[in-house]
Amino acid sequence: MEANPSLLETVGVGDLVLLDPLSEESLLQNLKERFKHQEIYTYIGNVVISVNPYKPLPIYSPETVEEYRNCSFFALKPHIYAIADDAYRSLRDRDRDQCILITGESGAGKTEASKQVMSFVAAVCGKGEEVNQVKEQLLKSNPVLEAFGNAKTIRNDNSSRFGKYMDVAFNFKGEPLGGVISNYLLEKSRVVRHVKGERNFHIFYQLLAGGSDQLLRELKLQRDCGRYGYLGRDGASLPGVDDAANFRAIEDAMRVIGFSPAEVRALLEVTAVVLKLGNVQLTSQFEASGVESCSIQETQALREICQQIGLEDSVLERALCSRTVEAKKEKVVMSLNISQGYYGRDALAKNIYNRLFNWLVNRINESIKVDTSEQRKVMGVLDIYGFEIFQDNSFEQFVINYCNEKLQQVFILMTLKEEQEEYVREGIQWTPVAFFDNSIICSLIEDSKAGILAMLDEECLRPGLVNEGTFLGKLDQVFASHKHYESRATQNAQRIMDASLAGTCFRIHHYAGKVTYNVTGFVEKNNDLLFRDLSQAMWKTRHALLRSFFPEGDPQKASLRRPPTAGSQFKSSVATLTKNLYSKNPNYIRCIKPNDRKQPFVFMDELVQMQVRYLGLLENVRVRRAGYAYRQGYEPCLERYKMLCRQTWPKWKGSARDGVQTLLSDLCIPSAELAYGRTKIFIRSPSTLFDLEERRRLRVAELATLIQKMYRGWKCRTHYQLMRKSQIIISAWFRGYAQKKRYGQMKMSVLLIQAYIRGWKARKLLQELKHEKHQSKASAIIAAYWKGYKTRKKYRKYFRSVASVTLANFIYRRLVQKFFLGLKNNLPPMLVTDRTWPAAPYKFLANTNEELKKIFYPWKCKKYRDQMTPQRKAVLQDKLCASELFKGKKALYAKSVQQPFQGEYLGLQKNPKYRTLHAAAEGKLVLADTVRKVNRANGKTVPQLFLLTKAHIILADPKAAQPKTVISLSDVNRVSVTRFSDGFFVLHLNETSRVGTKGDFLLISDHLIEVVTRLHQTLLETTQKTLDLQVADEFSTQFSKGSVAIRVVETAEKKGTAPVCKKKGSRTMEVLVH
Ligand SMILES: Nc1ncnc2c1ncn2[C@@H]1O[C@H](COP(=O)(O)OP(=O)(O)O)[C@@H](O)[C@H]1O
Ligand SMILES: [Mg+2]
Repeated sequence: MEANPSLLETVGVGDLVLLDPLSEESLLQNLKERFKHQEIYTYIGNVVISVNPYKPLPIYSPETVEEYRNCSFFALKPHIYAIADDAYRSLRDRDRDQCILITGESGAGKTEASKQVMSFVAAVCGKGEEVNQVKEQLLKSNPVLEAFGNAKTIRNDNSSRFGKYMDVAFNFKGEPLGGVISNYLLEKSRVVRHVKGERNFHIFYQLLAGGSDQLLRELKLQRDCGRYGYLGRDGASLPGVDDAANFRAIEDAMRVIGFSPAEVRALLEVTAVVLKLGNVQLTSQFEASGVESCSIQETQALREICQQIGLEDSVLERALCSRTVEAKKEKVVMSLNISQGYYGRDALAKNIYNRLFNWLVNRINESIKVDTSEQRKVMGVLDIYGFEIFQDNSFEQFVINYCNEKLQQVFILMTLKEEQEEYVREGIQWTPVAFFDNSIICSLIEDSKAGILAMLDEECLRPGLVNEGTFLGKLDQVFASHKHYESRATQNAQRIMDASLAGTCFRIHHYAGKVTYNVTGFVEKNNDLLFRDLSQAMWKTRHALLRSFFPEGDPQKASLRRPPTAGSQFKSSVATLTKNLYSKNPNYIRCIKPNDRKQPFVFMDELVQMQVRYLGLLENVRVRRAGYAYRQGYEPCLERYKMLCRQTWPKWKGSARDGVQTLLSDLCIPSAELAYGRTKIFIRSPSTLFDLEERRRLRVAELATLIQKMYRGWKCRTHYQLMRKSQIIISAWFRGYAQKKRYGQMKMSVLLIQAYIRGWKARKLLQELKHEKHQSKASAIIAAYWKGYKTRKKYRKYFRSVASVTLANFIYRRLVQKFFLGLKNNLPPMLVTDRTWPAAPYKFLANTNEELKKIFYPWKCKKYRDQMTPQRKAVLQDKLCASELFKGKKALYAKSVQQPFQGEYLGLQKNPKYRTLHAAAEGKLVLADTVRKVNRANGKTVPQLFLLTKAHIILADPKAAQPKTVISLSDVNRVSVTRFSDGFFVLHLNETSRVGTKGDFLLISDHLIEVVTRLHQTLLETTQKTLDLQVADEFSTQFSKGSVAIRVVETAEKKGTAPVCKKKGSRTMEVLVH
């Protein structure tokens, strides 16, 4: 056989199958050798042997988990993780339910092993929030159950005092979904009693050590363990164990699992009640009748309990101290003696605790139960109390050992017997290996008719005096010659003297050794009776949880039927368990205890030898060696490996067996490695199997790649085809659309062209028609004229030829007459200033009307003139002359129009003062007025009398009234005036004249217009010359001292200041006017 290198590399041999030579000594030696080198795990094929090191080892780290994860079983050093991984993968990949059976003596490391398996599975079974929560809950259930169900024993500081089987359900991906925990027979007697050096259940110590002061106060507990009768006086604390920390840990664990604070509280209250029941002390007394009775010695503890659970003290007291018995349908109250009283008290405590524990398991199950209907696979982990041999073994040990016996049977059946039988069945050549079959011991205990349990039940049910003596007698009788049964009676029969076997004991030769059981208490423990008065009292409490533990206390539901005995209950639950285990693929962890002193790395040969022997390890190795590591039906085998050979892949047409044969020969597996059974193929060494598995793994990866490739190809193709199809559809639609659009455009163009052509044609037609119409009209007119002409010609001789002219003239005349008459009646007003004239009513009268208008105005003027007097006419002539001179030239003119020319302003004739002057101008005077003469030197003015005659201009001083200066009119050369409305004027004189030498005169007159007009008229009349009048803003004057420029300057109007003259230098004079 080819050995796996890693198994050879370690100390000794890793797999006992490889041990050579094989004997009990060599096997032991190998285990010892390995153990010394801290190799605590050894294989027998796929069974793991674990030797308890009693010392933490660094082999459970996350790195180790990673190492063993997904690694083939034999590829690494033996480890418990390898079997856990193998089981988990088998569950996940091969879809097979698994169970992990952990067996061994108490303290051999079963519970530790189960935790390691669970933690490994938890580490590898997927991730995610939900998955983690489930894992947490599953893992946390353990410390809670351990607190309530484990205790320190002599063998083990943390000994499980109940059996536990946990089914963990996984989905197809290998993720945990939840689980179910089953518990088996809690060792409840420990609640009230335990051997010296042991402890009660951990929870009591943990509660007292770790509960907060407030909690203890509320529960009415005291921290000191010594105060509680049930906890014993010694061994309260354990070295290396922190009860207080553990209490906090379980509180946390319960929260994680989903316990509500109220539930935790109720749980602890009930626990406290159990603890305090132990402190209820009784005293004995004698009644008057001489009957012994008991009563409560000290009511403190009782009162506290009753307060806590809401019950009247008297009710509990009565239930503890008396008992109601029904006799002939009559109820009689009997008082109990002191031992009966204590018995009742302890039974109550045990019952409460036991029911509390069951409730706890159910409550945890409720939290971790699987709530999907998803298909699931199950992995069961069995950690049950180990085989126990004590000094004094009672009913509990008997039951525990029975359970272990059954598990050994499962092991034997599934590994040794079943295997060998299978070889025979399959027709494989086989030399049988002898092994001890313990079914004889199992039936000794469990046989439904003649089994010890059946007989115990019978004894319990039997009316009359019942005691253990009769029970033992019966056993002696039935099993007198049984090989595995021994007692004083059977020994006596064989004349054997054995002091170790007391009269009250019987001995069973278990597979793991002989155990002597003391029958005392068997009947009572099997009956497991609780006085009805106590259960009824409990039912009356107001504590909901406690009350729910005792449904039978309800008087309405009270039934007289006995509950099943403890023994039969246990038997049936063990039967269910074994059935469950048979339905699954088993994985074994066999724990060995190397010493019974809990000493690290101490190997006691004898102790181990005994375990090796009763565990049947040697036989196990032999069978394993002779046999085949692996077997499988042809069909599933072909199904699993058919991809490794061309002929069988993908489909094999012949029989499955031929297929497997073809397959394996194709793979060149040596024939020594194989055996072909009737229905199964057998493979001898695991390495061959691993080789096959490895090849399969590679091939599967290859196939997966192929499938992936094909699938991807297919996907791409279909995708491409789809795209192509879509593209064609799109292009078809697009082309259709483009063509339609083009067609639409063409149609539009055609219609347009059509419309134009039609329009053009229609227009042409219309033209033609119009033309035709015109023609016909013209021809009709021509014809009409022609006809008219012809007719007129024909009838002319009958009419007067000038009639129309006469008629026309008549009408014309009439119109003219009407026009003229209208004009005559509505002539415009005769005002000379009015120039209005009506418009002509007819166009042909327009010229006439214009002519008339032209005639009418001069006529109107003539008429106006004709009616005027000669004086008026003269005045107007003067005014006309003034207008001709000044109109539009000097601003003063407009003001002067209204002023009549008076000529004589001085009154020469009337005023005698002016007689001289009057004489000088006699008969020739034209105008007399006062003017202001401007001094040529400084511009100042002086008044002067100014006279104009038909020959002269005379200037005279007003006071003297004598002519001062006489200017002949012929000497007047020119007159200059300004544009403004002032009276300033310059008389320019001929230089050659006599007066002229003095220079020109600058004068200011209030009647300038009249003065200049008269001067002009006079000049014209006398000399036939017109006056040279200059209207300007600047002019030069001739003074005696030379010429001076006069500049007219316009200023703002100032009242009363006539033009002011200012001399500016010698050559300029400014005249300020406004
Ligand atoms: N693999 C191990 N490594 C270290 N110590 C171990 C191991 N297995 C068991 N032990 C020690 O042995 C003690 C008893 O183990 P336990 O599993 O409770 O025994 P069992 O359940 O078989 O009665 C544990 O408390 C622990 O100290
Ligand atoms: Mg245990």
